[in-house]
Amino acid sequence: MQVFLIVLYVLFLIAAIAAIVGIIIWEASLALTDAPFVPIPPETLPPIVEALKLADTSVLYDLGSGDGRVLVSCWMHHPKASYVGIDVALAPTWFARWRLFRLGRPMTIHIMRRNFLTTDLSNATHVFTYLFPGLMEKLLPKLERELKPGTRLVSCDFPFKGKEPLEVIDLGRPERARGRRLYVYGF
Ligand SMILES: C[S@@+](CC[C@H](N)C(=O)[O-])C[C@H]1O[C@@H](n2cnc3c(N)ncnc32)[C@H](O)[C@@H]1O
Repeated sequence: MQVFLIVLYVLFLIAAIAAIVGIIIWEASLALTDAPFVPIPPETLPPIVEALKLADTSVLYDLGSGDGRVLVSCWMHHPKASYVGIDVALAPTWFARWRLFRLGRPMTIHIMRRNFLTTDLSNATHVFTYLFPGLMEKLLPKLERELKPGTRLVSCDFPFKGKEPLEVIDLGRPERARGRRLYVYGF
């Protein structure tokens, strides 16, 4: 009985330490970014896939890819296209890799843990963003410089201040909800 209690105590201790380390890693990885990990609501995924208008030859970059849900939704509709997820934070990147592992590691989806502001984006044909306004402003000059003519970008909820969208798609959600509008841009 005493041995059982000791084993139980040790297991509890390990679980508590793992939880504390997990919370520290999570918080530290959020503190690294200008736009913390806020996952997009699942019901906004189908309109995002539609708005992107992907083809088999497309190369979609999700800038700040979080847990990879946008990439995976797009891949389910267009498995032959190529997908690159870039996220600087550790915890969302782990979630994304776990999601891909459960799907049998699709060869066409790559998750990179790095800063998209210093990553070459020139081979994108499509870009998705769900970021904050300050980051969108930092990103625009880089996109103007690097993206090929004809690249299509869909931003959820946050438009660029200095660029007219081709289209604004209202997703018909309550004003305070996440995922209310999609802004479609052409480069
Ligand atoms: C609002 S979340 C969006 C997650 C995902 N795209 C989605 O729609 O569910 C923003 C993500 O951008 C990442 N991020 C912020 N700044 C970044 C940067 N400079 N480089 C790479 N990732 C960044 C954050 O770590 C976070 O996971």
